Amino acid sequence: MKSKIFNVSLTRDITKLSYPIIVGDDLLRQGGEILKEFIYKKKIIVIHDSIFSFNNDPSNLFERFIQSIKKITSSVKLIDIPGGDQTKNIEQLNKIIEKVLAYKIDRQSVIIAFGGGVVGDIAGFAASILLRGINFIQVPSTLLSQVDSSVGGKTGINTKIGKNLIGSFHQPLAVLADINILKTLSEREFRAGFAEVIKYGLIKDFTFFNWLAQEHKNILNHDKEKLQTIITKSCQIKAEIIKNDEKEGAERALLNLGHTFAHAIESFGNYDGRIIHGEAVSIGICLAFKLSNKLSFCSRTDTEKVINIFQKSKLPTSLREIKNLSFSVSEMMEKFKYDKKNRQNKLTFILNKKIGESFVKYNMDVDVLVEFLNEEI
Ligand SMILES: NC(=O)c1ccc[n+]([C@@H]2O[C@H](COP(=O)([O-])OP(=O)(O)OC[C@H]3O[C@@H](n4cnc5c(N)ncnc54)[C@H](O)[C@@H]3O)[C@@H](O)[C@H]2O)c1
Ligand SMILES: [Zn+2]
Repeated sequence: MKSKIFNVSLTRDITKLSYPIIVGDDLLRQGGEILKEFIYKKKIIVIHDSIFSFNNDPSNLFERFIQSIKKITSSVKLIDIPGGDQTKNIEQLNKIIEKVLAYKIDRQSVIIAFGGGVVGDIAGFAASILLRGINFIQVPSTLLSQVDSSVGGKTGINTKIGKNLIGSFHQPLAVLADINILKTLSEREFRAGFAEVIKYGLIKDFTFFNWLAQEHKNILNHDKEKLQTIITKSCQIKAEIIKNDEKEGAERALLNLGHTFAHAIESFGNYDGRIIHGEAVSIGICLAFKLSNKLSFCSRTDTEKVINIFQKSKLPTSLREIKNLSFSVSEMMEKFKYDKKNRQNKLTFILNKKIGESFVKYNMDVDVLVEFLNEEI
């Protein structure tokens, strides 16, 4: 299968800040060659998920990737960190920073983040503050990170108060997404990543949504052609949105569909794996559609179609399905107050007029929201 390369540009002028996203099958063995222009003779620090190591590499691709990098540059250091959202915290960030500095990096040094969204977010954030900012490359290893978190330059960590509340915008030099590495991903993680793919269709591409509804079985069975299609299509939709609004003035906020609910749900779970990001997003998106319907923005038919595709993909679709977390309406309302989209203490939500058309709803009516949550919890 031929790999696809396309450029994300952050301004309408493609000659200005832009970077390649390389998507294909079996790219990691040639990783060094593919990334040569960014790493040649530089000091490279690979921050990787600890599930990948030389002694115990489930995919056998990490080792090959590192060998290929060593052919391009002699200085390669490895730092491993555990995956999972509990890792994305300030203590872990501190450890990473101290280890990287111990390698006597300079401003030309490059960090490679090899792992899922957790590794990408924390390693990217470390890169953005080390020596006031050094370059980094994303090598995403989960479906979620290949279709979403590796692109767009949002980096950061969680705090006890809420998710992703510390961070920066720091764009990578390149993104290398190898479909082959997804073969070791658990079915649960794979489905969670699929939730973010569905999100793109719901935000702005009705045709893509319909195609996903038709093809979901093949995709969940890892059909490689279809996987390449969903990764490139998702990255293209995300890039298109970011091109118009890199730092989330308004349009980029659409990518947050379902996330106000999702971030609150995740924080109740303490990021310990009882509920994972994509599952919370699946519930969050269903709630956003139900709320849109309650407020008469969106039809019941569309809302049902949305719930149906998540159900068929074996993803959770309602708060009642979360059996192992406890939270109340008032606790949920409290969490919403920390959402980064809010303005002047008024809640902001992303809602839908129909499938394929999300919009930003400022000044959400608090009474309606409380009534809605009482119906849902
Ligand atoms: N920056 C952004 O724009 C953005 C967007 C969406 C999500 N995110 C963040 O991404 C994070 C979620 O990312 P994620 O779902 O990739 O989580 P993750 O990085 O924790 O990976 C999920 C699990 O899969 C394991 N794993 C990773 N690659 C594997 C592979 N190839 N084979 C087998 N197991 C593998 C990890 O060890 C982990 O246990 C959240 O923190 C979320 O906030 C960020
Ligand atoms: Zn997300």
